[in-house]
Amino acid sequence: MAQFSRVSGSVGLITLQNPPVNALSAAVRQGIVDTVNKALQEPEVKSVVICGQNKVFCGGADIKSFRGVMTGPPLIPMIHAIEASTKPVVAAIEGIALGGGLELALACHYRISHTKARLGLPEVTLGLLPAAAGSQRLPRLIGITAALDLITTGRHVTAAEALQLGIVDHVTDQNTVDVALKFASSVAGKPLDARRISLYPCPPSDDTDALFEEAMQRVRRSARGAIAPVACVQAVRAAATLPYAQGLEREKELMATLFTSGQARALQYSFFAQRAVGRWSMPSGAQWDTVEPLPVQKTAVIGLGTMGRGIVVALTQAGFSVVAVETHEKQLTQAKQAIEEMLIRGAKRRGVTPEHDTITYSHSMEPVANVDLVIEAVFEDMVLKEKVFQQLSAVCKPGTLLCTNTSGLDIDHLASKTPNPELVVGMHFFAPAHVMKLLEVVYGRQSSPRAVATAMQLGKKMGKVSVAVGNCLGFVGNRMLKPYMNQAFFLLEEGASPELVDQALEEFGFIMGPFRMSDLSGIDVGWRIRKEEGLAVPDQRTGQIPRMQKGCRYSPVGDLICEQGRFGQKTGQGWYRYDKPGGRVARPDPWMQTFLNQYRATHGLVPRRIDPKEVLERCLYALINEGFQTLEEGIAAAPEDIDVIYVFGYSWPQHRGGPMFYADMVGLEKIMDRLEHYHQAHPDVPSLQPCNLLRKLVAIGSPPIHKWSQVMKTLRSQL
Ligand code: NAI
Repeated sequence: MAQFSRVSGSVGLITLQNPPVNALSAAVRQGIVDTVNKALQEPEVKSVVICGQNKVFCGGADIKSFRGVMTGPPLIPMIHAIEASTKPVVAAIEGIALGGGLELALACHYRISHTKARLGLPEVTLGLLPAAAGSQRLPRLIGITAALDLITTGRHVTAAEALQLGIVDHVTDQNTVDVALKFASSVAGKPLDARRISLYPCPPSDDTDALFEEAMQRVRRSARGAIAPVACVQAVRAAATLPYAQGLEREKELMATLFTSGQARALQYSFFAQRAVGRWSMPSGAQWDTVEPLPVQKTAVIGLGTMGRGIVVALTQAGFSVVAVETHEKQLTQAKQAIEEMLIRGAKRRGVTPEHDTITYSHSMEPVANVDLVIEAVFEDMVLKEKVFQQLSAVCKPGTLLCTNTSGLDIDHLASKTPNPELVVGMHFFAPAHVMKLLEVVYGRQSSPRAVATAMQLGKKMGKVSVAVGNCLGFVGNRMLKPYMNQAFFLLEEGASPELVDQALEEFGFIMGPFRMSDLSGIDVGWRIRKEEGLAVPDQRTGQIPRMQKGCRYSPVGDLICEQGRFGQKTGQGWYRYDKPGGRVARPDPWMQTFLNQYRATHGLVPRRIDPKEVLERCLYALINEGFQTLEEGIAAAPEDIDVIYVFGYSWPQHRGGPMFYADMVGLEKIMDRLEHYHQAHPDVPSLQPCNLLRKLVAIGSPPIHKWSQVMKTLRSQL
């Protein structure tokens, strides 16, 4: 709702009241209509200020209401009524003015913002566009280029940038409502036509066609198949080329297409999924709201390689003191320099001073004695990690939480090597750790709920989206990646090229297909793991790595590539070739074609033409099937957990929600049928066999994703 009061006799103050962000619910919109009418009718009122309760202007539309039928007064007539008001209306912006909140502010004749406020039109991130006239008004106010930037990216701007762009008229560090009230008094009775944005012509540009062409190309490149950014460009183009009323019509048409698209549903699901993962639970019943995290101030990171450096930076930026330990002298010097540089770059980007004086570098464990939490990031070698955990147990004060950044080793085994296994959890960061948003918090059989709560809270403080998962080989993300990668290898054996597989998955929306990704992260990483698992080992009799292992099909193509010293970008050759070691531009390599031809001939494989549809189905459905398996086992607690992990850790396109949401969209029956089809063709690939949970869901009529939990519970109880 909205409250009306009269201040200093002549200024009507309208306060939006809908905690926590004064979202524009039906009641709030009705409240605005009523209070604006009142202000216009009361002769004593000469000007009006609109503000939000609790120092928050307005967070925009109520996203939950998107799912139901729209009730209450619509936004656009309300916005036009405010703009048409004969009494000046001033927006007093504190906290945030986002989406519909900023559109409301743009309806006002003046905007005054607190220095700490943030403004933006983030609709595109939910698969929509600013359809309460935002796409038509913002370009008229700040010009096409700046409006395109804000509307197609959804980025938030600070009050200082908003002032520079001309979105707000004045910024204050005083009480914003007081400043706005005073200002409103001073402009009472002044003419308003020059303040009505809908009457402005869109500022002209030199070559409008070229500008939009270039913007469209840029947006299509980065959208990875998302349609909302493209519609945003079309809407701004309407603002630039059509009269206001026609532009509004175009905005409405485009919004109608977006609103009913699966992409908007996926993005809104993803928005809520990010929040849902914070409400974690463990099989014991312990959960986020019943467990108090341990206090953490002092931290330590052991091993300053690729991951350790990023983790030190992320902890430091989050305000923790860090003891950074590296045994290798040269590596310590290099790490120190790299960390300092990352901190300087980060501080520059955020406009703050670098925070490096809170890091203590050491090549021994002694300074770790009084920290509250340690994150180990040494080589992926269980024997080494056991040794490090034993050293830590001896040196750390009682109660110190011991976390490992292992990408998939057994947390229970590691915990069993310490006197306090309840204090051991996995904190699986993704590279680069100071940039990537995902953190898998892995609880073992003995991890205490407080240890999990502490790791989850630490992740939150580091700005991560943290997901609590159970312990198994590869946890959730890497475990699901294995059948996906296996299918990619099998497709090469059967006739595909790395380019064909990558292109199909990149067109689906991944930033990189599996082979380009593997070249980037190093093909040898998987090779070493497979060797440790005893897979990438030649048979003593034949001298060849067997293509059947433990009764299952195995493809050694990746191993054979590594045996040639082709590790990917770092060696200048991998699945692709690069102009030099460390080069970034992947080019198809004729060597690879010859190699694959010879490999197929050696093994009597007759290549066939592979359709991109088969690539998608085999890679994605195998991954999804493994996702169902982790749900069945309780390793992932809910489909949202898997989807968040894939969107934030593995570049699954957000406008497709995540693998489990995608499965729901495609239809579980279809997924099961196609898996059965491929399993019949490849009976030696068990990961293509639909798992119990998938079968069970199909058997009861494929309920929608939010109803899977009941079936999961039944199956888990039978395990
Ligand atoms: P890395 O090889 O870049 O760095 C490991 C560092 O640990 C080296 O600097 C080494 O000198 C140091 N080290 C070895 N023994 C030590 C000891 N006893 N005390 C202190 N330092 C010691 O390895 P990277 O890639 O950073 O991986 C570290 C861990 O993170 C591994 O468990 C890996 O599986 C995991 N991980 C790696 C990811 C990646 O993309 N590289 C992603 C997620 C997890």
